[in-house]
Amino acid sequence: MVLVVSPHVTIRAIRLFGDPVLRSKADEVREFDKSLRQLVDDMTETMLEAPGQGLAAPQIGVPLRVFTYHVDEIGVGHVINPVLELSTESEVDIEGCLSIPGLTFDVQRPISAKLKGQNAEGEALEIEASELLARVFQHEVDHLDGVLYLQRLTKELRKEAMSQIRQAEWFGMPDTFTAGITSSEPKPKDSSDSVSPKAAELA
Ligand code: NI
Repeated sequence: MVLVVSPHVTIRAIRLFGDPVLRSKADEVREFDKSLRQLVDDMTETMLEAPGQGLAAPQIGVPLRVFTYHVDEIGVGHVINPVLELSTESEVDIEGCLSIPGLTFDVQRPISAKLKGQNAEGEALEIEASELLARVFQHEVDHLDGVLYLQRLTKELRKEAMSQIRQAEWFGMPDTFTAGITSSEPKPKDSSDSVSPKAAELA
């Protein structure tokens, strides 16, 4: 698998559950410079390669308030310093996370969200989102606050999730999960892996 898609873009390793960077609150972006645009480019390619529907900067070890998203019919985008306004109405839908590969669980979240933030040039942006896009936005902003979707699960599901994580082949390994593969000895997945290929890997 080719990981360098152009001379200027790098697919970055995705940090996994257990890495402290995933539990830390990320910092506001203040410098809208070339390195920020590089970060957005790298994150976008890393997300598309994984593939995922979103990626937050802490997931590649960068503690800044930046995320990218990719939702069919909406396209690819990024947001810097996002702030969310959430609807009171909520719904339950399936969710996954690139930092917790192979697992998906039902999560209840507000059904729509208004997102305000900036683009990589520092220009203000505002997006009205509903359903999947709203869910991706919430999942990613959670990452920027050091919150994983596991913390949004019901008590029973969280117990189940922790049990599945402890059994996962990647658990306890360093940040070796890149673009849907692990760089250590690739073990064939056993057939009891019930996660469908369509399962949403949100971020
Ligand atoms: Ni995630």
